[in-house]
Amino acid sequence: MTMAIEATAGLRLLAVESSCDETAVAIVEAGRRILASVVASQTVLHARTGGIVPEVAARAHLRWMLPVLDEAIARAGLHDAGDVDAIAVTFGPGLAGSLLVGLTMAKTLAFLHDRPLVAVNHLEGHIYAGWLLDPGEEAEAPDFPAVALVVSGGHTFLVEMRDHLSYRLLGQTVDDAAGEAFDKVGRLLGLPYPGGPAIQRAAEDAGSHRRRLPRAWLGDSLDFSFSGLKTAVRRMVIAEVGGTADDGAAVPDALAAEIAAGFQDSVVDVLATKTALAAQRCGARTIVLGGGVAANGPLRAAMGERAATLGARLVVPRPDLCTDNGAMIGAAGYRRFLAGERAGLDLDARPSLKLARPA
Ligand code: KG4
Ligand code: ZN
Repeated sequence: MTMAIEATAGLRLLAVESSCDETAVAIVEAGRRILASVVASQTVLHARTGGIVPEVAARAHLRWMLPVLDEAIARAGLHDAGDVDAIAVTFGPGLAGSLLVGLTMAKTLAFLHDRPLVAVNHLEGHIYAGWLLDPGEEAEAPDFPAVALVVSGGHTFLVEMRDHLSYRLLGQTVDDAAGEAFDKVGRLLGLPYPGGPAIQRAAEDAGSHRRRLPRAWLGDSLDFSFSGLKTAVRRMVIAEVGGTADDGAAVPDALAAEIAAGFQDSVVDVLATKTALAAQRCGARTIVLGGGVAANGPLRAAMGERAATLGARLVVPRPDLCTDNGAMIGAAGYRRFLAGERAGLDLDARPSLKLARPA
């Protein structure tokens, strides 16, 4: 069913996100204003295994979904989930068992309160995090044409947006996602999981003692590759401390900091350079960053400089809205709702859902 609806200032969505290892529920007004956003992170749980075990993640979602829902409703000052206009939910991509927990919650609420259900692509959520505002905050919405870089644990790609919900794929990783590279290199250096924040912290201790690591430019294409960089880190660790580099236990802190800094320099350089090139080619007025790696301080700073040079506006959500959350699903869900999209109660999880097809 498609039925365009005029933008309604007070329209409220309750949004549920459970695609990976954060159990999250948010209430978002008019696709922008965050009335409440509650995230229960399983990071501590997965730190023990150094990565996500899908069965463990799904069980944790089951354990936390109802408390997180109740907390979001209470913080938004609502009576119950019937006080919203629609329910939005992530239906992919992600871990099947984890997605199913959020889907079941969202469908139950939609059925119980007789509210429309809106299916949201998690990757679209990461982009629409750039539209979110805190209570009391004022900021212009991103202008089109925009170029969006999504860099998360599972995805790395660049898209052009000439309008809402319209994506042209400009480039993507040909191997590891940027976040995955941070996590794998973190492990090689003996840093705690997840690797991204740990590498950023370790790099701060390196000062000017940074190891030079390679950059995979792939000609003038807007694709990315990070697996060669990971191999270069592995070789450097083996050359310096011997062993196989698989447990990272033997890497001294000072060396880990130097390599972490060099690795981060390389990733930031490639991401910022290619995003700026994409923005230039598309004549973008706005550059939007999203996904967990967009929480990275040096990437945010480098992107800010490139955007200023191009005369484009950089929109990057605050760090906790870059990593997985429900508010971004509410922001993207609002646009889908306005476009008249409604999902049935037979909505199923789509673990391999894509955002855009190659141009
Ligand atoms: O978007 P996200 O929360 O989950 C996915 O959809 O994958 O992204 C998680 C990824 C992890 O790989 C994590 O290491 C990375 O984001 N990350 C960071 C930082 N914070 C999180 N990477 C670099 N620097 C950070 N500060
Ligand atoms: Zn994500």
